[in-house]
Amino acid sequence: MLREILISLRTRCAPAFAALGYRYAAVACVGRAQRCAAAWAPHQENTKRRLLAAMAEAPAGSNTAVILGSGPCLDLPMAELLARFSRVLLVDVAHPPDARHLARRHAGIELVEMDLTGTALSLADRAAAQVPTPNCNAFVDEPGLGLVVSANLISQLPLVPLRHAQRRWPDADLGGFARSIVMAHLDHLARFTCPTLLVGDMQRRIVDPDGKVTEWEDPLFGANLPAGEAEWEWTVAPVGELSGGWSIVNRVRAVRMDRRLPTASGYGGP
Ligand SMILES: C[S@@+](CC[C@H](N)C(=O)[O-])C[C@H]1O[C@@H](n2cnc3c(N)ncnc32)[C@H](O)[C@@H]1O
Repeated sequence: MLREILISLRTRCAPAFAALGYRYAAVACVGRAQRCAAAWAPHQENTKRRLLAAMAEAPAGSNTAVILGSGPCLDLPMAELLARFSRVLLVDVAHPPDARHLARRHAGIELVEMDLTGTALSLADRAAAQVPTPNCNAFVDEPGLGLVVSANLISQLPLVPLRHAQRRWPDADLGGFARSIVMAHLDHLARFTCPTLLVGDMQRRIVDPDGKVTEWEDPLFGANLPAGEAEWEWTVAPVGELSGGWSIVNRVRAVRMDRRLPTASGYGGP
C-alpha cells in the first residue's frame, strides 16, 4: 500500500486526467506488472521483438519514434530505440516513475501527456449532454517520423471512459461507445505511413482452478483487429494473483497497421 502511494506521488498525470481515474489505473498497472513480472516477461519480450522488426524498416533519414501507451516502458527495447532515433516520444495519459527516470537520463526522450481517445475533456465536462465521440490525430504530421507503436494500449483505452459513461449516461449504447473508442484508435494508426506497429489484446480467457476455461471475454467490444504478423498468449493474471486459484490469459496480436490487409468491413479478423 505504502509502495503504491509512493508510485502514485511520483507518477506524472495532469489533474484533469487524474480526476477521471487515470493516475489510479496507471499505478494499479505498475503494481500488477511488479507482482506478475515473471509471468509477463515472455509477453514483454515478444512485444520488444516485434518492435525491433518494425524499427528495422524505419525509413533512412527518419529520426523520431512515437510510442503510444508507453506507461512504465516495460515492453520497450529502450537502448535500441535510443540508438536508432534521436527523438523518442513516450505518449501516455500518465507517466509512472520508470518513464520519468528514463526521460531524466536520456535527452532524446520526451514525455507527452495526452489522452489518446480524445474523450477525456468531454468526460471531465459536467455539462456534456451525451457520450463523446472519440477521435485522435496526434502525431500524424510529425516531421521525421520513422516508427509508431501502440504498445499494449488498445484494450485499455475504453476502460476509464466506459466507467464514466456508465454512471452518466446509463441508457446510452455503452458497448457501442467502447467499440467506437477501439475503432478510432485503429483509424488513428491507419493514418501513419511509416512502420506502424500495434500490439494488443484480442481475447481474454478466464481459467478456473482446474485449468478449465470458463469464460471468453472480448476486450475490444466487438471490434476486430486486422490480420497480424504474430500472436501469443499473455498470462496477465497468473495463479496467485487472483483469489481461489483462478487465472486470466490474454491472446495478443501484433499487427503492422501500415501494411494491414484491407477487408470489406474495414478492420477484419484473421
Ligand atoms: C497495459 S499498460 C501498457 C504500458 C506499457 N506499454 C508497458 O507494457 O509497460 C496501458 C497503458 O495505457 C495507458 N492509457 C490508458 N488509457 C489511455 C489514454 N486514453 N490515453 C493515453 N494512454 C492511455 C495507461 O496509462 C497505461 O500506461
